[in-house]
Parts: sequence; structure tokens; C-alpha cells
Amino acid sequence: MTILGIESSCDETAAAVYTGGGMRSNVIASQSVHEQYGGVVPELASRAHHKTIWRTVQQSLEEANVEIEEVDAIAVTQGPGLMGSLLVGLCFAKGLSLSKDIPLVGVNHMDAHIYANFIDEEPEYPFVALTVSGGHTQLVHVSGPFEHELLGETRDDAAGEAFDKIGKILGLPYPGGPVIDERSKNGDPRFHDFPQAMLDNNFEFSFSGLKTSVKYFLEDQENREQFLADHLDDVCASVSYAITEVLVKKLDNAIKNTSVDSVVLAGGVSANSMLRRKAKKLANDVECDLYIPKLAYCTDNAAMIAITGAMMAERNMYADMELKPFASLSNRK
Ligand code: KG4
Ligand code: ZN
Repeated sequence: MTILGIESSCDETAAAVYTGGGMRSNVIASQSVHEQYGGVVPELASRAHHKTIWRTVQQSLEEANVEIEEVDAIAVTQGPGLMGSLLVGLCFAKGLSLSKDIPLVGVNHMDAHIYANFIDEEPEYPFVALTVSGGHTQLVHVSGPFEHELLGETRDDAAGEAFDKIGKILGLPYPGGPVIDERSKNGDPRFHDFPQAMLDNNFEFSFSGLKTSVKYFLEDQENREQFLADHLDDVCASVSYAITEVLVKKLDNAIKNTSVDSVVLAGGVSANSMLRRKAKKLANDVECDLYIPKLAYCTDNAAMIAITGAMMAERNMYADMELKPFASLSNRK
């Protein structure tokens, strides 16, 4: 089966081509327009998707050496995400599907982050997935393909959101996650003990207090500029430490409570080097198989949409022209 995957849920316009033989292309057009605003501006995101989507899809077909007529299904992100951004991808995919008579598959972006682990490997069911992105932080028990049970999620900020908001407080460019990760490598993770919330409550997370605590910690410094000049790497490392400790402790709870033998990491924050390291240690300690997507498949991409689309098409989970976007998981139809 040859699947064209299209992703446009936030600020990456992406297209990928998957065949049974593997991922043949994975093209991402990132939108730099948001940098100056320190966050994604929804209206600008939709316009940028609209401008680049055709070029991105064409490039993905060219790189894969596949003609559109050879595509067996078009998989497109249905949600969650920004409504305007999702609509651009969805309308484009519907148009292509209608004009070329190619079946359509509507993919849940958060499922796709999980199934990104199936691009290069074959995790065994049942497993627990820690999905950590800019909009979500969840522990999910996956008993079989598309059989998901939500164990718990964040009550407020997502882990990626915490990284990004703290990055903003520290005066770092957007998105803060990768920058904090990079800076942490030169800092002392025990420099300051930032709070790790809700450790006694099994599968739920809370990261908004951490953000506030970083804000107050900086306000307490006599000369904030000088302090950051001397200790930015240490603060970054201590923030990374607090976030990743919570994530792995919760993952540990989930493994023990569900008695699974496999765990997968998913979403943009799974690119975090400290989290990857700690998850490997945890998996080793509890003798679990651990799967983490390669870096290109952690943050938003269309390869994960294509592989999930392939798995859905195999199960006849096709969509029709009534396919509608959903902004959040709770209003999924
Ligand atoms: O999955 P993703 O690309 O988009 C969403 O579905 O939200 O995740 C984006 C999030 C951002 O918050 C970004 O800061 C974070 O993933 N992120 C990281 C790293 N790379 C991306 N956070 C920490 N360390 C990283 N290396
Ligand atoms: Zn994502």
C-alpha cells in the first residue's frame, strides 16, 4: 500500500509517503513567521499552510519517486490542533481525494505520535505510551491497534508548554523546549530544587506551578540579568530535571500498575535528551522494552500520519467527504 500523509495541525506543513517497504519521504516546511511573536499565531499559521501545502505535497511525492496516481490512500490529520490550520490540510486532502478518486483517512494527531514508534520498529502490545507534546501530556494504555485507554493526563499545562513558557520567562527564543534541552547539557541539574507536582497522585500531571516557581525564583535574585548571565545553563538543567523526573516517575507508576512489558515515548518532548536518558534507565531497571521514535519522528511530522493512515487503511477505517476537523480531543467526533 502507498500512503500519502498530510499534517497541518499547528505550525508545520508536512507531507510524507509511506509504502510497505518503509518511509519513502518526510518533508517538513516549518513556519518561521511565529518566532517574532514568541508563540504560534493561528491566523498566520493557516495562511502559511495555505501557501506551502501544495509545494510540500509535491516535494514529498517527488522525493519518494511516486506519482499521485500510485497513491492508495491519503491520510490527513483531523485533530486535535488549530482549527484554521487543520482546515487547510483537510480541505486540501479532500480536494485531492475527490479529483484523483483516492480514498481518504482521517488521523488523530495524538494517536499518530504513538504510532510513529511503528515506523522503524514493532512494539509489542499491550504497552503504555507517555505522550508528551506542546498541547498534551498523557499516559495511555494501548492494548491493541487503536484500542486506547487514557490512564491520566495533565490538569493544566502540558510538558512542552511548560518548557516553552519557562523559555519565555528566561528570555529564550520560541520554542523553548529544544533550547532549554541544549543549554541543560552544560548546566547543573541540582543547582535549584524546582517543584515536582502531584507525585502521590498516580497518573495525573501538573506543570503550571513549576512555571510560577521559576518566575518567583528569578524575581528573588538581586540582579536578574547578571544571575542569568552566570547561571542560565544551571536554571535550564534544573527545570529539565524537575520536568523529566515527574515524567519518568509517573511512567514508572503506570508500568507497575498495568504490568506491561513495553513502553513507548511519543510527541515533541520525547526528543528531550534528559527524558530519553532517564526513560532508558527506568526501562532497564524495571526490565521493560522501551521504544522512542528517532528525532525526526518525535516533533510534528507527516511520516507519523502516513504510518497511522496505513494501519487504519489496513483495517478499513476510511473517511468520507463529511470528515470534520476537531480542535481538542474532548470534541472528537
Ligand atoms: O509534538 P509537537 O511537535 O507538537 C505538538 O503536537 O504540540 O511538540 C512540540 C513541543 C514544544 O512544546 C517543544 O518545545 C517541545 O515539543 N520540544 C522539546 C524538545 N523538542 C521539542 N521539549 C524539550 N526538549 C526538546 N528537545
Ligand atoms: Zn504533535
